[in-house]
Amino acid sequence: MNLSRRRFLAGTGLAVSAPALMIPARSPHAAAPRLVARPGTAQLAPAKYKPSDIWGYEGGVPGPVLRLKRGERLTRNFVNELPQASTIHWHGIRIDNRMDGVPHLTQAAVEPGGEFLYDFTVPDAGTYWYHPHNRTWEQLARGLYGALIVEENEPVEVDRDEVLLIDDWRLAEDGNLAGNFGNMHDMSHAGRLGNWLTVNGDGDLKMPVRQNERLRLRLVNTANARVMKIELRKMAGWVAALDGQPLERLTPMETLTLAPAQRADLIVDVLAAPGEEAFIASAEGENGYAMVTFPVTDSAREARLGEPRPLPANDIPALGDLEKARIVPLAMQGGAMGRMQGAMMGGQMMGMRDLVQKGKVWALNGVADMPHDPLVTVDRGETVVIRMVNETAWPHAMHLHGHHFRQVLADGSTGPLRDTLLVERTETASIAFVADNPGDWMLHCHMVEHSETGMMTWIRVA
Ligand code: C2O
Ligand code: CU
Repeated sequence: MNLSRRRFLAGTGLAVSAPALMIPARSPHAAAPRLVARPGTAQLAPAKYKPSDIWGYEGGVPGPVLRLKRGERLTRNFVNELPQASTIHWHGIRIDNRMDGVPHLTQAAVEPGGEFLYDFTVPDAGTYWYHPHNRTWEQLARGLYGALIVEENEPVEVDRDEVLLIDDWRLAEDGNLAGNFGNMHDMSHAGRLGNWLTVNGDGDLKMPVRQNERLRLRLVNTANARVMKIELRKMAGWVAALDGQPLERLTPMETLTLAPAQRADLIVDVLAAPGEEAFIASAEGENGYAMVTFPVTDSAREARLGEPRPLPANDIPALGDLEKARIVPLAMQGGAMGRMQGAMMGGQMMGMRDLVQKGKVWALNGVADMPHDPLVTVDRGETVVIRMVNETAWPHAMHLHGHHFRQVLADGSTGPLRDTLLVERTETASIAFVADNPGDWMLHCHMVEHSETGMMTWIRVA
């Protein structure tokens, strides 16, 4: 097997950029710990390059891991020390709509120097994450993200629990971030794809483990646009949860696709012997490269443990009768090679040339900007099916806020609970969910260049 790093920046040995600690507050919300978004530096590239200038929560990449127990309350006074307005969106958590962090829809964007108190209860155990929802194509690419981990109330039988945030950076020759955020080529094609991959901000993460040790690995794809295909080497196990929600039955981990914003909880055993290494690697056959290296120090036990139990389920309402569900069609249109002639913007029909001039290249149901009216208004408790038809030449990672959904498969059965679904080009994919969370919720592509330039809409749950 050839486990080499990507072409750019060959070399080894990276400093770990540890998240900074919380600083006690002196603010109007003095009781709440602060979470500050600010510029910082991180050694993303190997040590022979200078540290990259980044924007991070507490100035680090990734931001601090926020860990609490199911049913607990998360309170953070968000302080914006960035040069532009921002918000925090708590991705995948089914929370109070006013805490969802969407500018114009659920709150005003927090201006530089401003603050906003996020305060909510976390109803579901699982792996979630937080990131800005303003100029996300720039702010996320600069390093603003962190993990939000909600622990089960019952113990999960693993030796260790590790969070692995996988990011795809576009670095310039000097190791700094390449500029050119939001250029039209990225926007109209696959989004901002990078040339350097980090896990927890480290381009060569090494995590010592023990043979036959059982690990829970919480993988999060924090990239702007890259779809990652992942496999294990000299370790083996199961997928236990997707997008935070436990699978009813564990599935053996083979090749895992993680689209932007998607998460997977793996339960794995280290097979490599002391002195050897195990890997999380990109699934590209001979050309795969190591994403995380696990040097094996010694042995935890004689043999592998038995098959684990599934994680305890969260309280997600069961789908109602899909025959009687509200059907909402959603056509995904535009982009390069998309043959879109024009779309509505600001309530007016515009041709492609005018749209591009206004920075829009995609559309949902013929509308290229965030619509004034919701895609649909549904009653609380209603079962809704959104029938997405990808008419574009590109895959899209469609994310619904405030709810988890299941894909309705061709034979009428339903897939696992998710909050982000990869819809391949020319594919039709229906998602079904119970609209039990009142408020205004976005539905958008999580290739954040695509959402900015047309692939965003919202639903209202009355
Ligand atoms: Cu993770 Cu609307 O986003
Ligand atoms: Cu997209």
